[in-house]
Amino acid sequence: MLKVFIRSTVMVLVLLSMTTVSYGKDFKYVGVKKCKTCHSSKKIGAQYKIWAKAKHANALKSLSSPEAMKYAKKHGIADPSKDQKCLNCHSTYATIDHKLLDPKTKMTVDEGVSCESCHGAGSAYKKRSVMKDHKKALANGLNMPDEKTCVQCHNKKNPFYKPFDFKKMVAKISHPVPNKK
Ligand code: HEC
Ligand code: HEC
Ligand code: HEC
Ligand code: HEC
Repeated sequence: MLKVFIRSTVMVLVLLSMTTVSYGKDFKYVGVKKCKTCHSSKKIGAQYKIWAKAKHANALKSLSSPEAMKYAKKHGIADPSKDQKCLNCHSTYATIDHKLLDPKTKMTVDEGVSCESCHGAGSAYKKRSVMKDHKKALANGLNMPDEKTCVQCHNKKNPFYKPFDFKKMVAKISHPVPNKK
């Protein structure tokens, strides 16, 4: 019994470390402009446009709001929009390891919380032939987000924390592909 447990635990650990390594090596961040090229049309669901109008896309701007500045002053932060303590959840670009930036990317700090914070680094899955095939896309780094993805940021480390209701919050950011079977 114990032997089997130990053996399977070791297996899981080996598998886990393998996936972590290949993840870092193969998949690079391409930035939202890349996703925009295909995900703007109405036919596919205009996910880019829905995102661009909503709060995640504007998360960097909030770090310069009167509310943010008031908090910053009280806590000795000179400029929240340049402080890593705040950028950590308000900007994808500021959070990722820059070794994982695609060499050709035009990604910038002001795209806020963009697609790849939730869907994973897109260099390998962004090809049309891969994107259209759910299994292939997943194998190439696509993440279909669940609650765990969200609570990396929607947690009490956020000074403006509000209790997080996954179902309600997903509905608020909904960006479906129309008529999907
Ligand atoms: C070359 C065009 C193209 C680019 C670039 C592209 N996509 Fe897609 N994407 C598609 C197509 C086509 C589909 C399939 C839509 C459908 O289900 O009919 C798709 C599907 C998806 C899906 C759903 C996948 C599934 O299996 O359910 C996600 C999530 C997604 N794209 C995110 C992204 C993100 C994030 C980026 C940027 C990193 C991106 N896409 C870049 C064309 C593209
Ligand atoms: C990388 C960090 C990060 C991740 C991951 C993340 N969020 Fe957010 N989210 C934020 C930030 C920062 C804001 C505040 C943006 C602003 O207003 O400046 C926000 C705001 C929101 C809002 C708007 C709240 C309102 O009052 O209207 C919704 C809805 C939301 N997130 C849902 C989600 C869901 C659902 C997920 C997971 C699928 C998720 N978020 C994942 C950082 C994140
Ligand atoms: C752990 C992640 C995290 C950190 C760190 C963080 N935030 Fe946020 N912030 C969020 C999330 C998530 C929201 C959205 C909360 C919601 O509406 O549910 C948010 C919302 C806000 C809002 C309100 C935006 C609005 O329109 O309602 C302001 C202002 C803000 N954050 C400023 C800051 C400042 C300043 C810092 C640094 C001192 C900071 N945040 C650090 C995650 C974070
Ligand atoms: C805050 C997290 C978050 C961000 C940012 C985000 N998405 Fe999503 N996305 C989700 C969630 C959650 C789903 C639903 C997953 C599911 O149905 O299992 C989803 C689903 C999708 C789907 C599939 C919809 C369907 O009907 O199958 C596409 C396509 C997609 N996203 C594209 C994008 C693109 C392109 C961007 C950037 C412009 C983006 N997403 C940004 C969380 C996010």
